[in-house]
Amino acid sequence: MNAQLFFQAPKDFSTPLLVIFAVDIATSKGEAPSPALLTTSNVIARNASRWLSTGEFKAGLGETLLLHAPEDIAADRLLIVGLGKAKSLSLVELRKGAGTAVRFARPRGLRDLALGFPELQALSDEPSTGLAQPWIARVLAEGAQLANFDIDTYRSDHTDQSMHRVSLLHEKADKKLQSEIQQGFHEGIVLGESQNFARMLINEPGNVLTPTELGKRTAAMAAEVGLQCEVHSTEKLLELGMGAFYAVAKGSEQPPALIVLRYEPEQPVADDAPTLGLVGKGITFDTGGISLKPADGMDKMKYDMGGAAAMLGAMRAIALLKPQVRVLSVICSCENMPSGSSYKPGDVLTAMSGTTIEVLNTDAEGRLVLADGLHYAKTLGATHLINAATLTGAIGVALGQLNAGLFSNDDNTCAQFQRALTLSGEKFWRMPCTDDYRDVIKSSIGDIMNTGGSRYGGAISAAMFLKEFAGDTPWIHLDIANMAWIDDVRPWQSKGPAGVGVRSIVEWARSYQG
Ligand code: BES
Ligand code: ZN
Ligand code: ZN
Repeated sequence: MNAQLFFQAPKDFSTPLLVIFAVDIATSKGEAPSPALLTTSNVIARNASRWLSTGEFKAGLGETLLLHAPEDIAADRLLIVGLGKAKSLSLVELRKGAGTAVRFARPRGLRDLALGFPELQALSDEPSTGLAQPWIARVLAEGAQLANFDIDTYRSDHTDQSMHRVSLLHEKADKKLQSEIQQGFHEGIVLGESQNFARMLINEPGNVLTPTELGKRTAAMAAEVGLQCEVHSTEKLLELGMGAFYAVAKGSEQPPALIVLRYEPEQPVADDAPTLGLVGKGITFDTGGISLKPADGMDKMKYDMGGAAAMLGAMRAIALLKPQVRVLSVICSCENMPSGSSYKPGDVLTAMSGTTIEVLNTDAEGRLVLADGLHYAKTLGATHLINAATLTGAIGVALGQLNAGLFSNDDNTCAQFQRALTLSGEKFWRMPCTDDYRDVIKSSIGDIMNTGGSRYGGAISAAMFLKEFAGDTPWIHLDIANMAWIDDVRPWQSKGPAGVGVRSIVEWARSYQG
């Protein structure tokens, strides 16, 4: 998708589809919705006003109203897109609004549209949103990119609906603001594209995206954006003594992939500056192994590499946005299969760190591959760790499907991530993993068990297991199992892989710039 920014009046811009945003300015309860356009152009307002007063369009979030052959403006069509209540307008709604416009255009064969920059000053009672214009440009770009994604790659009747061009039109900006808006817009494009890269990987079926294939796709991405990349397999796992990762991998005929990516900032940073380690769970298919999962819904376990995909998407964006901070990524990818060579309940494994692990359930495999991934990232020089994983069904029991799980052993690092969330617009809820939970994974046979003794607090016992391998290094664990796959179609996005985590991880990494 070609994305362009024009500093030009929307009414004069020649386009098949001009998009203008609207909010509902009704304030008191019970009052009828009152749509107001976010434009200062009288001619655009004149075209829409007759239809806005009919009550058929309420400016709800994701609502649309199409006007053909508008008068005295250069566009062929005018699309009004609702953003919901004026007083609750935030970057989140703007991102969804841009997405709604793109997903309106695509099935109608409109491949080129222009977004009129939302002019909040058009409201007589301007909401004190504090929304900076570069940020607005950024989220509009993100929303447009994210909407330009579908999951039907393998359908024979698949037709390419992707947008050719999305333009953003801004009328009034001085040179300084122009360049800030340009920068925001560019960042949004990169972040949206990188999140879509993650979503594309997650959407691939397990028979296509094997660990080896994930390695190949990563290497190709790395070469494209200029990241250093190494892809290893079984031999390296054995050489490093990754007894936990190897145990999971050995039940499959598909060899594992241990992927290492490195990003070096353009200007050298001080030796004692932080090195961020991004570790991803890359189970390309999780059958549960010998502790086999039930058949119902098992097909979804192709998305058990969603954590790895989030890290790969983040690394792609980091390589393109070039923050002044060292970042490395370790991806542990394999299948979890039942076979004659599978690891078994009761087995005792020795992780790369030397910790011994009693296996109670072979379906708790994600924490095993991450145990070695986290330890390895430390040996490669990571001073701050973050991992993402579709780790537990229990995180959905705890949090539903609105917030993913956030765990940390360090309040400062966690606060830094939470600040990043206010910018990325993603939702993570901090869960406890204090040492008083440590007993639930204590083993009498080895050092720790790979599951807690009970079903209660399953997401926390998984986090406690990982914490063991983070040790004293500041660490964040993102359990995204409940948010990695979206079951509902929304006006602004397709159902399927969400690519959750990418934007927040990038924002967090950028907050460490020297
Ligand atoms: N990959 C699953 C977790 C998962 C569940 C991801 C649902 C996405 C949606 C993980 O490997 C797993 O099976 N975890 C077990 C842990 C249990 C055996 C302690 C679970 O959540 O049931
Ligand atoms: Zn599992
Ligand atoms: Zn799993």
